[in-house]
Amino acid sequence: MARRKVAVLISGRGSNLAALIAACAAPDFPAQIALVVANRADAAGLAHATRAGIPTQVIPHRDYAARADFDAALDRALQAAGIELVCLAGFMRLLGDAFVERWRDRMINIHPSLLPAFRGLDTHARALAAGVRVHGCTVHFVRPAMDDGPIVVQAAVPVLPGDDADKLAARVLAAEHQAYPLALRWIAEGRVRVAGDRVEIAAPSAILPAAILNPPG
Ligand code: GRF
Repeated sequence: MARRKVAVLISGRGSNLAALIAACAAPDFPAQIALVVANRADAAGLAHATRAGIPTQVIPHRDYAARADFDAALDRALQAAGIELVCLAGFMRLLGDAFVERWRDRMINIHPSLLPAFRGLDTHARALAAGVRVHGCTVHFVRPAMDDGPIVVQAAVPVLPGDDADKLAARVLAAEHQAYPLALRWIAEGRVRVAGDRVEIAAPSAILPAAILNPPG
C-alpha cells in the first residue's frame, strides 16, 4: 500500500501530532508523516517527531520580513519532502491566501470547537460563557478565512456541571486525538470529496443516536 506523505505543522505542545504519529504506526494506516515543521524552535512537540524518527524542520517566522516569504519557505520545504497532505496541528501562524489556495483541499486543520461556533481563540472559556451544553472539535479543510472550510469530522463532548475552561479543554482534547486520525485516515484512503462548501464521505455507515441530550433527561 502506498502511503500518502503527510506534513504536520505545529507551534507548541504537539499532542495532536503525537496522536497522528501513533495512528500512523498502525501497519494498515494509509498515511505516513514524512515531515514535521514548526515555526518556533522551542515548540515542545518537535520532541515527539524526533522520538519517532521523523524529520523535523524549524522555519522561524521571525526570520522573514513578509508573510509571503515565510509561506514560500514553507512551501519549498513541503515540496522538497514530496508532501501530499498538510495537517495543521496547533499551528499558530496565519497562512497567506496564495499558500492556502496552493494547498486547497490538501490541507486540514483541527479547531477546538464545533464550527462554525467559536472561531478564534479561547474557545473553551467562550463556550462556558455562552452556556452551551455540547462543545467539541472540528477537523476541516483550510480556506483563506480563519477557522473556515469544509468540515470533515466533528466530535462532540458534553459540558458538565463544575467545568472550568481547563477541564473542558482536556475533554475536548481527548476527542481531538480521536477525530484527527480518523479524518486523516479517510482523506488518505480517498473516501473524502469536497463538494462546494461541504464534504462527502464514502465511509461505512455507523448507527448514531438520533439525538444526544445533555442533561440526559
Ligand atoms: C488544539 O486544541 C487544537 O485544536 C488547536 O490548538 C491546540 C493544539 O494542541 N488548534 P496540541 O499542540 O496539538 O497539543
